[in-house]
Amino acid sequence: MAETVVITGASKGIGLATAERLAAQGAQVIGLARSEPRGFPGVFVPVDLGDEGASAAVLADLAGRHAVEGVVNNLGLNILEPLGNIDLDHFRRVVDLNLRTTIQVTQAFLPGMRARRYGRIVNLSSRGALGREKRSSYGAAKAGIIGMTRTWALELATQGITANVVSPGPTATEMFVRNNLTGEAAEKNRQRFLADVPMGRFGEPEEIAHAIAFFLSREASFVTGQVLHVCGGSSVGPAPL
Ligand SMILES: NC(=O)c1ccc[n+]([C@@H]2O[C@H](COP(=O)([O-])OP(=O)(O)OC[C@H]3O[C@@H](n4cnc5c(N)ncnc54)[C@H](OP(=O)(O)O)[C@@H]3O)[C@@H](O)[C@H]2O)c1
Repeated sequence: MAETVVITGASKGIGLATAERLAAQGAQVIGLARSEPRGFPGVFVPVDLGDEGASAAVLADLAGRHAVEGVVNNLGLNILEPLGNIDLDHFRRVVDLNLRTTIQVTQAFLPGMRARRYGRIVNLSSRGALGREKRSSYGAAKAGIIGMTRTWALELATQGITANVVSPGPTATEMFVRNNLTGEAAEKNRQRFLADVPMGRFGEPEEIAHAIAFFLSREASFVTGQVLHVCGGSSVGPAPL
C-alpha cells in the first residue's frame, strides 16, 4: 500500500469509502473536499477544488509537508443534459472539475514522486464514458480521463510511477441518487439502471474502494495504463475486448 495518499472528493461516497479502507490498511490519508465529514480517518483539508487558485495554495502546502506517494483523483461532476440543450457553462464546469482538477492535483505531487522514483496515480472514470444518454459532457470528461491516464502511464513508465483508472458502474452514492434516483422518474430510472447491470444491483462504495486500493498497492508494480471496470458487468456488452 502507498503509505501517504491524497484523495479528492473524500468527504462522502467512493472517496470516503476509499479513505476508510486505506486508513484501515495503515496508510496515512489526506482528504480534500469542501465539507469535512465527521470522524474522517486521516488529515482532512477543506478546499473548493473548483477554485484553481485556492487549490494551488492548498496543494503546494501539502506537497511541502507530506511525502505523498499515492493520488486518487476521485472528485467528479455530472450534469445531465441532452444534445441540443447543453449549457456551455455546464460543459466547461464538468470538464474543469473532472479533468483540470485531476491534472492540477497530480502535478502538485509529481515532483515528489519523481524524486522518490515511486508513485501511484488512480483516476476515476465511469461506465458513462462508454456512452449513456444525456451525458455528453460527463462522457467526454470521463473518456478524457482514460486517454489522459494512458498517456501518463507511458510518460512515467520508467520512473516507478504507475497511472491507472477505476471505472465504476452505478454505485449507490449521493451523486448517483441525486442524478438518477430523485424526482418523478426515480423508480423508472432505478429499473432502467438495474436492467443494465447483469448482477441486478447497484455497487457499494466499498467495492469501488477495493479496486482503487489494488492499484495503489506496492504489489501492483507491473500494472499501468489500465482501466478496471467495477460495474457488476454493466460494461461487458458495450465495451470491446
Ligand atoms: N456513484 C456512481 O454511480 C459513479 C459511477 C461512475 C463513476 N463515478 C465517479 O466516481 C467518483 C466519485 O463519485 P461519488 O458517487 O462517490 O460522488 P459523490 O458522492 O457526489 O461525492 C463527491 C465528492 O466530491 C466532493 N466535491 C464535490 N465538489 C467539490 C469541489 N468543488 N471541491 C472539492 N470537493 C468537491 C464532495 O464533497 P463536498 O460536497 O463536501 O465538497 C464529495 O466528497 C466521481 O469521479 C464520479 O464521477 C461514480
